[in-house]
Amino acid sequence: MSIQSLGYVGFAVKDPAAFDAFATGVLGLMAGEGGGGEHRYRLDDLAWRIAVEAGETDDLAYAGFEVAGPAELEALRARLAAGGVAVADGGAELAARRGVLGLVTCRDPDGLAVEIFYGPTLRTETPFASPVGVPAFLTGDQGLGHIVLSTRDMAASRGFYEDLLGFRLSDIISMRMGPQFSMEMAFFHCNPRHHTLALMPAPLPKRLHHFMIQVPTLDAVGFALERAEAAGAPITASLGRHTNDHMVSFYARTPGGFEVEFGFGALEVDEATWRVGRHDKPSSWGHKRGAH
Ligand SMILES: [Fe+2]
Repeated sequence: MSIQSLGYVGFAVKDPAAFDAFATGVLGLMAGEGGGGEHRYRLDDLAWRIAVEAGETDDLAYAGFEVAGPAELEALRARLAAGGVAVADGGAELAARRGVLGLVTCRDPDGLAVEIFYGPTLRTETPFASPVGVPAFLTGDQGLGHIVLSTRDMAASRGFYEDLLGFRLSDIISMRMGPQFSMEMAFFHCNPRHHTLALMPAPLPKRLHHFMIQVPTLDAVGFALERAEAAGAPITASLGRHTNDHMVSFYARTPGGFEVEFGFGALEVDEATWRVGRHDKPSSWGHKRGAH
């Protein structure tokens, strides 16, 4: 029993208007119903997957992980409590704001607001339509995408995300940061998406290094790259293919300061046959950094 997917994320950014232009005009997200000072964006038939509010942190404000239903929510709440995590009922007001049937809230070991919910609002009657012609985003049982978070305490974070939320290790990349220093990034899955969460053991100023959204064709990545360049968005990593999930992607800096990875072609985890691997490089080719 574990969480099923990353259901939604909320960002707090200093300039929501700039983020809005980027989200719709570059990424091609569909504007969803906002309100209460929030912009919301759709990637699929859910009423929203990404919410953006005004805030000073320019960072991830909360992450929402989906479970199948009320019994699974209760079981996970009990496991978190037994694990020593302060977990609270989200309450009717927050559930209504998020458009879910039920949720509980807690914090990860670095203080990130984590919400676990079931019953998201579906807008099946209004199909997803990208304002710039992105054909679709790959979501479904793989959830909205992935997030890569920094942590000051890898052991505590792994205890929370693996032992309590039920993430499983996909692989490790040993990232050489200099001649004397390398950092072991850990990648975790909870469904066929190779990683829904990755953890970087580094005291970075932001929790969120990047979030990733996935499209079904290489052309959709190429068109997004050209929109990002035309909009003047810094391309923080050139087109490349990752060693571990085989995703072909580029990275751009969002107006929130954190990055977005826009990708295609990732392999999927078959839990029955998957074995944990390790890598010494993040990319087979490309993903050149430092141009900006
Ligand atoms: Fe990524």
